[in-house]
Amino acid sequence: AKIGITLTINGEKREIEVAPWTTLLDLLRERLDLTGTKKGCDHGQCGACTVLVNGTRINSCLALAVMKDGAEITTVEGLAGMAQRQGTNTLHPIQEAFVEHDAFQCGYCTPGQLCSSVGLMNEGHAKTREEIREAMSGNICRCGAYTNIIDAIEDVMQ
Ligand code: FES
Repeated sequence: AKIGITLTINGEKREIEVAPWTTLLDLLRERLDLTGTKKGCDHGQCGACTVLVNGTRINSCLALAVMKDGAEITTVEGLAGMAQRQGTNTLHPIQEAFVEHDAFQCGYCTPGQLCSSVGLMNEGHAKTREEIREAMSGNICRCGAYTNIIDAIEDVMQ
């Protein structure tokens, strides 16, 4: 049997019926066509599926959608909208910084890197470059764009 849940996704309230075993990642990608969030490993190892749940970053492949009933979800598709609601540019400042610092090559990990960066800034613990690097260690980049990613985050945090 399916279970009815309510999620606010990128500012829009959605009533959704989901199977109890559906992950948040599969709900976003397969049911809601929010394919910006990527599936890398599906096992909590790569960070490609990172989204924000009530402002906190999580691996959406490890969360069952039903566990997030009532939550506010932000995916990469919502980051620019978040910036617009705060009255700033078209892109979220972290997206601008990724462009400026060339913080990607193939781009597959980028949505997760972006959401993780915003989550990290919300947490407010990481201050030094080393702390940022450590706090971003759950987001793997096969192209090795790490230096530029950390540069972009540092730039926004300053
Ligand atoms: Fe979720 Fe890799 S797809 S951590």
